[in-house]
Amino acid sequence: MALDRPSPNDLRAFWMPFTANRQFKAAPRMFVGAKDMHYTTAEGRQVLDGTAGLWCCNAGHCRPKITEAVQKQVAELDYAPAFQMGHPIAFELANRIIDMAPDGIDHVFYTNSGSESVETALKIAIAYHRARGDGARTRLIGRERGYHGVNFGGISVGGIVNNRKVFGTMLGGVDHLPHTHLPENAWTKGQPDHGANLADDLERIVALHGAETIAACIVEPVAGSTGVLLPPKGYLERLREICTKHGILLIFDEVITGFGRLGSPFAAQHFDVLPDMMTTAKGLTNGVIPMGAVLTTGAVHDAFMQGPEHLIELFHGYTYSGNPIACAAGLATLETYAEEGLFDRCAEIAPYWQEALHSLQDARHVIDIRNMGLIGAVELEPIAGAPTKRAFSAFLKAYEKGILIRTTGDIIAMSPPLIIDRAQVDELIGTLREVLDALD
Ligand SMILES: Cc1ncc(COP(=O)(O)O)c(C=O)c1O
Repeated sequence: MALDRPSPNDLRAFWMPFTANRQFKAAPRMFVGAKDMHYTTAEGRQVLDGTAGLWCCNAGHCRPKITEAVQKQVAELDYAPAFQMGHPIAFELANRIIDMAPDGIDHVFYTNSGSESVETALKIAIAYHRARGDGARTRLIGRERGYHGVNFGGISVGGIVNNRKVFGTMLGGVDHLPHTHLPENAWTKGQPDHGANLADDLERIVALHGAETIAACIVEPVAGSTGVLLPPKGYLERLREICTKHGILLIFDEVITGFGRLGSPFAAQHFDVLPDMMTTAKGLTNGVIPMGAVLTTGAVHDAFMQGPEHLIELFHGYTYSGNPIACAAGLATLETYAEEGLFDRCAEIAPYWQEALHSLQDARHVIDIRNMGLIGAVELEPIAGAPTKRAFSAFLKAYEKGILIRTTGDIIAMSPPLIIDRAQVDELIGTLREVLDALD
């Protein structure tokens, strides 16, 4: 299907998110269709999706079960108020999510995005301590190079300079752990060996501020948006120990790792570390309808269930929390994952993915490669004086050659749908090699 209004002048009104707007509008890249592993461009070209959209279309595109569920739901119950009213599939979806969550995680609070899940979890953490009579615990600990969405809580605990520097003072009382990306771990396949001790910095932060002032520590088990930063062996376990010792809630931001990306339903199971809360979004609905969810332990939830029963326990929620159409998309998505065994499929193809990815070690400009599950990063030597430019050129050339990759800084990050097959892995990596070898 061709786009009938291709003039760049028509593109002005939409201020595009996280986009070089002027560059894009001078040379637009438009998708008009998608199916399984491919996008179709406005010019009718097929583009292999190496990023599952934005880490969200884990089952691939336009999957029939999800499409039908959304179509049926929108005709049956389009919207129901989320406050003081319910509808059955919101409860059903929560139960299905809990079925696949680690033991001990047993409640679901719905949001509409990863950013909202983060804000929700941070608020629940502070309110949890207050509900238990520990109201001085308001401090939040994040990590350098962490990405937790774009709202004020998330950018405050996050550690990406460009997401922080122009937005004022942000939340007070926040501190950061060091990131876990160490040069000695370069070229590691899977979890790196060095750096578990970086978790001990939480002890320093506790000594500095006092545990009695700290509500929660939030980390991505695998950080995606800053270029795939992996947790060193033993690191997450150590964080868990220190949080438990000091009564600090541990929040795993599983917005990208949730729903199969590492071959397990959640990273918590992959690493066998149980957080007190998990933030999710993206793969929950296969990206089809915006939806997120915060998953909590019974202990976190139950702390709120006190006082007169007619009173609202948590003053928080969104107009679209548990929206029926999003819930229908979520249920059909989880069914698709289960019916097609997509999390196991991810685990099965991950070793092939790893070897294909690391075959790029001798491609031009490559200075590091790292991977886990169906996630991979290829780091490029930046052009002196023009950081990000080389990777952005790679992104543009890759698109011209028919593959969709993503870049952050000078790092190429890939996270294909879990339905990718070996031939498509070869195509993605083979095309990327051609792109890299042709770069200045
Ligand atoms: C770990 C993490 N948290 C939060 C977010 C924000 O999600 P959203 O863009 O849905 O608000 C993202 C998005 O990439 C993410 O990777």
